[in-house]
Amino acid sequence: MASNGGEPWRVLVTRSFPEAGLLLLREEPNLEVVIPDEPDASDAMPYDKMKKMLAEAPGYDALLCFLTDKIDAELLDSAGSRLKTVSTMSVGYNHMDVAACTDRKLSLGHTPDVLTNTVADFILGVLIATCRRIPAGVKVVKDDVWGKWAPLYMCGRDVHHATVGIMGLGRIGMAVAKRLAGFDCEILYSDAFRMDERAATVGATYVEFDDLLARSDIVIPLCPLTAETTGLFDATAFGKMKKTAVLVNCSRGEIVNQDALYDALKNGTIWAAGLDVTVPEPLPASDKLVGLENCMIVPHMASATVACREDMARIAARNVIAAHRGEKLPHAVPG
Ligand code: DGY
Repeated sequence: MASNGGEPWRVLVTRSFPEAGLLLLREEPNLEVVIPDEPDASDAMPYDKMKKMLAEAPGYDALLCFLTDKIDAELLDSAGSRLKTVSTMSVGYNHMDVAACTDRKLSLGHTPDVLTNTVADFILGVLIATCRRIPAGVKVVKDDVWGKWAPLYMCGRDVHHATVGIMGLGRIGMAVAKRLAGFDCEILYSDAFRMDERAATVGATYVEFDDLLARSDIVIPLCPLTAETTGLFDATAFGKMKKTAVLVNCSRGEIVNQDALYDALKNGTIWAAGLDVTVPEPLPASDKLVGLENCMIVPHMASATVACREDMARIAARNVIAAHRGEKLPHAVPG
């Protein structure tokens, strides 16, 4: 057990947190949980408030945060040397300055695995809805402008037998490929590393990125957001894609250059896009992308099932508890 001279370990939870995770934290002996009161807790804690709270005596040993929190060197410095661990309730950790945490010898936790299937199911949902124009169909019914049946009325693009290009064959990429195999799709993947054996289990074939863009009917970025992947889908990339292609982005908004995407959708460089992630989030309804009929946007909800979010909360809590007990985090950020 990590010791604080008999004083309880203190964890700051930056916003409302599912009961499933809170219970685990509260059951842990000698662990004090500080969580802002409702209704404020339903919003992300403002950065300055987080910094101020972390700086206040007696300080915190752990920070349990979310993808809406920016964890940078300045914030960590305000916490001082008492802070030992940062646990995020998300699989993605691009909101955390990992190098700054490592420099300060902090253990870092995230919540992989438990959301893989939930997110993969949702990606299939976005993919089918976008290819088959489901939002446009819902809209004409709601607006009372359901047109008469005609041979090409509401026609979209087939998913079955499509060639699908997955950029980043990690856990979620594999789960998506597995599902698409059931649609008899040809699956191509590109990644920083070739992983032929693993890819073979889902029938995916390695191709260079440019080849993936040129050959795919549906392109799905599933790579982590890094300096290399920021803006990867830009005007040049869209220019290499088929005019009939569909882009499905449920990874991070920053991977796509949104101005270039707007131009590509507007000018018919590509056919449609389905996005679960954007810059910024929330994306205002006045954003030019929202006005496009061939762009379906949903509010970063790929992992949003009650069971999945509860599992994520439990893992985020277990990472904190492991740090409290002086153990290795069960789900440490790689690296
Ligand atoms: C994550 O956990 O990083 C996901 O984006 C949440 O949906």
